[in-house]
Amino acid sequence: MAILVTGGAGYIGSHTCVELLCAGYDIVLLDNFSNAKADVIHRIEALGGKAFPVYETDILDEPGLTKVFQERDIDAVMHFAGLKAVGDSMRFPLAYYHNNVAGAIALCRVMAKSGCKRMVFSSSATVYCADNPIPYKEDYPTSAANPYGMSKCIVERILQDIAVADGTWAVAILRYFNPIGAHPSGQLGEDPIGIPNNLVPYIAQVAAGRLDYLQIYGDDYNTIDGTGVRDYLHVVDLAIGHLHALEFIGKNKGAHPINLGTGTGYSVLEVLHAFEKACGKTIPYRVASRRSGDLAAYYADPSKAQSLLNWTAQRTLDDMCADMWRYVSSQPHTTPEA
Ligand code: WQD
Repeated sequence: MAILVTGGAGYIGSHTCVELLCAGYDIVLLDNFSNAKADVIHRIEALGGKAFPVYETDILDEPGLTKVFQERDIDAVMHFAGLKAVGDSMRFPLAYYHNNVAGAIALCRVMAKSGCKRMVFSSSATVYCADNPIPYKEDYPTSAANPYGMSKCIVERILQDIAVADGTWAVAILRYFNPIGAHPSGQLGEDPIGIPNNLVPYIAQVAAGRLDYLQIYGDDYNTIDGTGVRDYLHVVDLAIGHLHALEFIGKNKGAHPINLGTGTGYSVLEVLHAFEKACGKTIPYRVASRRSGDLAAYYADPSKAQSLLNWTAQRTLDDMCADMWRYVSSQPHTTPEA
């Protein structure tokens, strides 16, 4: 029996593959490699300690997905494959709905036909309504102000409806807060294509001398220092959370939304200073106007993950920054294209 990891060559998918292999699982990695470097497979193999089948297949390719289930004995699916840039989703909504929603439908159809009804789904805190009180709890209303977040809302609803219609489905819907960091080996991390949209990858490129300075999008929010506050989570903690979720759906039917966050919020300036400590350099920045769509602050109530999955984040902000810096500073090729 093996775990099919869609999007397994991506940032979170690759780190989860390593943890699955280290925990003794067999995996099958599926990716279209549109946002991943091919050498990541060798890095996963080296860190996980064993080889595994790789399918270069698009999630929309139903016959290609069927081939995987015909050739491999799949026990459960971890579904990471999807487009995930909020800004891009505003510019290309159709691509986001087609890829993320139609892709999930194709996968679920093939899973149902193959008799595989266990899934860990990669969702996001972006699904929560902007006016929810913080910390966010799983039973709070969801919606989204952008097509990326809405595509996640829709897939969550599809999975919940499937699980109601067919009580043999078991689904963990994991709502990530802000994953950052890299594998402590320095051999696996985030390789954003182009100029990073997200805070910590951008800071890391400034620290590496590949970008001049950070723009801080607003310092007039009602927060500890006026800058935006988020719940940053080490990518390895996040990956381990997926293994706990896999065990949970092995014993529990139904669809279960679960926050994966630390429950602690840090401001942009607090993160910047933590990164300065990790890299031993001053990170230049300039305060710019607020970014459209940004909220002042949000972070998780992580109690459901603790009670259902027996999972809590273990790694600190300093760990996240140190591991991220070790990776970025050892990967000369991660230079953002102009
Ligand atoms: C964090 C803070 C910015 C960049 C996004 C997606 C979300 C999820 C995680 C996929 C905010 C500030 C940022 C910069 C800055 N992705 N910032 N200068 O927006 O919380 O969440 O990534 O699931 O869906 O929305 O993350 O890292 O972009 O921003 O000042 O150059 O850093 O204003 O306060 P965000 P982020």
